[in-house]
Amino acid sequence: MIEVRELTKSYGPTLAVDRVSFDAKAGEVVGFIGPNGAGKTTTMRILTCYLTADAGNATVAGYDVLENPIDVRKNVGYLPESAPLYADMGVVEYLKFMAEVRDIPKSQRKERINKVIDICGLEGVIQKDIGELSKGYRQRVGLAQSLIHDPPILILDEPTSGLDPTQTIEIRNLIIEMGKEKLVLFSTHILPEVAATCSRILMINQGKIVANGTLEDLIEQVRSEEKIHLTIRGTEEEITPQLRELDGVTGVSHVKTDNGVVSYEITTSQEGYDASSKLFHAAQQNRWDLVELHHETIDLENIFLHFTTGISSDTPSNSIIIEEKDASEEE
Ligand SMILES: Nc1ncnc2c1ncn2[C@@H]1O[C@H](COP(=O)(O)OP(=O)(O)OP(=O)(O)O)[C@@H](O)[C@H]1O
Ligand SMILES: [Mg+2]
Repeated sequence: MIEVRELTKSYGPTLAVDRVSFDAKAGEVVGFIGPNGAGKTTTMRILTCYLTADAGNATVAGYDVLENPIDVRKNVGYLPESAPLYADMGVVEYLKFMAEVRDIPKSQRKERINKVIDICGLEGVIQKDIGELSKGYRQRVGLAQSLIHDPPILILDEPTSGLDPTQTIEIRNLIIEMGKEKLVLFSTHILPEVAATCSRILMINQGKIVANGTLEDLIEQVRSEEKIHLTIRGTEEEITPQLRELDGVTGVSHVKTDNGVVSYEITTSQEGYDASSKLFHAAQQNRWDLVELHHETIDLENIFLHFTTGISSDTPSNSIIIEEKDASEEE
């Protein structure tokens, strides 16, 4: 449904999109993520024919964005980053106008307008002019216009930006629902949103696609070694050499010693839980007083940092906190 090949776009000296290629098909929800200025909006504007590329090509719903822009737009619902809403138009008046622009047959307009008012939770503001609406409601109206012609492809630039938590959840559910039969390509900065809604992640950095795959694919690409955080009461001199001896341990890095408690970051070639249990048993055998042991799990935040900055987040998200206990009592 979307085929993009070597798409390139510069604004003067700024190379905004650099030989971007990807495919996406019906039934996919593709999360387009990347830092500010990475090229998401520029790519989306090219795919929706609001901007022309300098090089490369793209087809959307089988139509070339350069040669058949009208057919492309018929098949795409687009929510721009800042929706071009008309402040002095009423909400319903605007939706009527968009239904007309989108060539919806007169007999179906009312039904479609009511449908998108319902989907986007606009009932409470239908009497108002767009200029009177809060940011979140303006965003909802933008979303409503993108859905009005029931297009097979949705391209949404930060659809949940500015929405309250309830509406954010509703829009996410809507994206999942739409993704069952349509193709949804949407950008966001909210990483849990991607994990919750997307069947595939497309990551862009400095104009280049740096990752493309399911969350599982990306975790696999990032996972080269496991990291375990270990805190033991004792002395570095006693503990460090013994940790280094352990089977599967590839690195022992002393983080800090605080009040007789030593913290390490251990890298291991073994799968997280296997390595954790080895360390746990080593502590028991050596009668070390184990304060904390947790392995670092790879989440989307780690992946994002890995592909966009080359560093990994150090936030543990899976911890086993063990109560302070003297290992000698175990026997
Ligand atoms: N109209 C413009 N004129 C000049 N430069 C632009 C213009 N629009 C975008 N750029 C530049 O192109 C690059 C890509 O911008 P783009 O808006 O596509 O990024 P983005 O990934 O959507 O970022 P954000 O997450 O902040 O929305 C940036 O360096 C930006 O400054
Ligand atoms: Mg943007």
